[in-house]
Amino acid sequence: MNASSPPLEALRSAFEAWAGHAPDTLVRAPGRVNLVGEHTDYNDGFCLPVAIDRWTWVALRLRADRTVRVRALDLGLPDDGFSLDTPLQPLPQPHWANYVRGVLHAIQSRGHALRGMDIAITGNVPQGAGLSSSASLEVALAEGVRRSHALPLSGHDLARIGQQAEHEFAGCRCGIMDQLCSALGEAGSALLLDTRSLAVQAYKMPAELAVVVIESRIQRGLVESAYNDRRRECEEATRALGLPSLREAQMADLTRLDGTLLRRARHVVSDSARAVQLATLLASGDLVAIGRLLREAHASQRDDFEISRPEMDALVTLCNDAIGPEGGARMTGGGFGGCVVALLPHARVPALQAALNAGYRAPNGELAVLHRCQPTAGAGLA
Ligand code: GLA
Repeated sequence: MNASSPPLEALRSAFEAWAGHAPDTLVRAPGRVNLVGEHTDYNDGFCLPVAIDRWTWVALRLRADRTVRVRALDLGLPDDGFSLDTPLQPLPQPHWANYVRGVLHAIQSRGHALRGMDIAITGNVPQGAGLSSSASLEVALAEGVRRSHALPLSGHDLARIGQQAEHEFAGCRCGIMDQLCSALGEAGSALLLDTRSLAVQAYKMPAELAVVVIESRIQRGLVESAYNDRRRECEEATRALGLPSLREAQMADLTRLDGTLLRRARHVVSDSARAVQLATLLASGDLVAIGRLLREAHASQRDDFEISRPEMDALVTLCNDAIGPEGGARMTGGGFGGCVVALLPHARVPALQAALNAGYRAPNGELAVLHRCQPTAGAGLA
């Protein structure tokens, strides 16, 4: 599947063949790429993601009974099925089913009564690559349930529901960046998220800049446990500083820390500041300053937050060399592999592609996959 052929028709006919009737609700929610501000969202800081034109689509039809049946069209795994009369619990496996169960549980926990449903899911957000395929699934599901049940839920509610599903059913104590971006994305813009107030401000992406995502094809291992470790370290640093969160910390305060906690806090404070800085730089047309900031952000997550790995560093260097001074690249997302995000003039994209073809192979021999992305709107009707 690719972005230019949304698989809506395929989803609609697969749903009909499976469920015996047409869906009554068809929605989608996008994945996202974060430009800068990494691991800042659970520290009440700023981040600057872009919702991208890769989506999860959900087809849904209400049933007359209390049964929920769920089919993940792309996975080739058995369907999930359960009754709404029994309290929903996470399953040991399959993992994907827990996103659905978790979202329905989070909606119920807000006091909304649900009806039985047939739900089919498909998508083209690369999975496990740090582009928030799971957030886009959670938000698309919540949007489908909201519309089919006519529930009074805002975009912020959809994001909170997705985050709750992630915490309680998927075992990752994520922040709220991915879900907020998937719910509230704006076409043509990056979103500056203030994760303390949850204020969302759109900043137009300059027309001369291409938003490129490069899949390293490096398998991310133990991501959830490493993620939760980083979160604990940030909490320790916050406690040691005696502050409510790292959002309240100034660089000067950090001299009271040392070792690992100093490095973790320094990354969070500096990357949150870089998110605000990049948002304002976007309108300036200063591609050199934008590139410098992306390179600094990568160094910070490599040296201070220690979420990179040598193969990712080499890929980022290769990208930055190919891009030159106007624009730049950094690893994006939770870390330990996944994707590189690059901002560069459109005219330089072929040079970047050529450099990747000539100079990069993943450890298993695969080529990197380059995606040109369009900043897109958040969850809605498909
Ligand atoms: C994952 C989490 C987000 C955020 C990023 C790192 O994508 O889901 O909440 O913390 O990692 O910036």
